[in-house]
Amino acid sequence: MVQLTLPKNSRITTGKTWPRPEGATNVRKFQIYRWNPDDGQNPRVDTYFVDMDDCGPMVLDALIYIKNKIDPTLTFRRSCREGICGSCAMNIDGINTLACIYGMDEIKGDVKIYPLPHMPVVKDLIPDLTHFYAQHASIMPWLETKTNPPAKEWRQSIEDRKKLDGLYECVMCASCSTSCPSYWWNGDRYLGPAALLHAYRWIIDSRDEATGERLDQLEDPFKLYRCHTIMNCAKTCPKGLNPAKAIAEIKKLMVERTV
Ligand code: SF4
Ligand code: FES
Repeated sequence: MVQLTLPKNSRITTGKTWPRPEGATNVRKFQIYRWNPDDGQNPRVDTYFVDMDDCGPMVLDALIYIKNKIDPTLTFRRSCREGICGSCAMNIDGINTLACIYGMDEIKGDVKIYPLPHMPVVKDLIPDLTHFYAQHASIMPWLETKTNPPAKEWRQSIEDRKKLDGLYECVMCASCSTSCPSYWWNGDRYLGPAALLHAYRWIIDSRDEATGERLDQLEDPFKLYRCHTIMNCAKTCPKGLNPAKAIAEIKKLMVERTV
């Protein structure tokens, strides 16, 4: 499902079809969302043809091929190229995922690429993540302590460290939050799956001494409780994480502290 936040009064039009690479016999068709805030035009979908014999296997390889060999104006974020930085998240073939680790062999037919849904668009495939990052900052994503720091380091048992597995691996790509209908509707007040997964990561960290404050901060009709367990977040996470489970664990802790 592709849902986009578009500039007011705009609609997506059919854009330019770029020429096929000369002499190529193994060609794949790409339809890519384009929008430039500076040209006053509606968003459009451009069509490109990629020579698969001259291109790597991942969707990001095709985007780099297009940018280098066909259309240098195509704009997208990327950095690590191995699923670590989280910057290449976009909607590919209807799924929010990381372009650098999404293989083109997983897609049947034409490859359709849009920016992450329901976010303001900066340009082409780049969403504006300012609000998303502010929400992450609001959950205090750092170790909060009150006792004096130990001489060397804050120690943690192997068992307690294991509780962070499935949480610390998050690369803040925003695929989960932007796949969540509750976040689409209430993203201004609902923190969304990514920020809440991080909130839980710090709540259960055995070294942290601000658990009560962290839970107090989430005790709000919107910040936490707009999660209706729709589960899109867990289905889409390119790192295989389960933000819905983390949210359920926070809700459980809320109940436990009242009994
Ligand atoms: S939980 Fe998964 S989808 Fe959500 S921000 Fe983290 S890595 Fe991305
Ligand atoms: S380029 Fe870093 S996650 Fe894709």
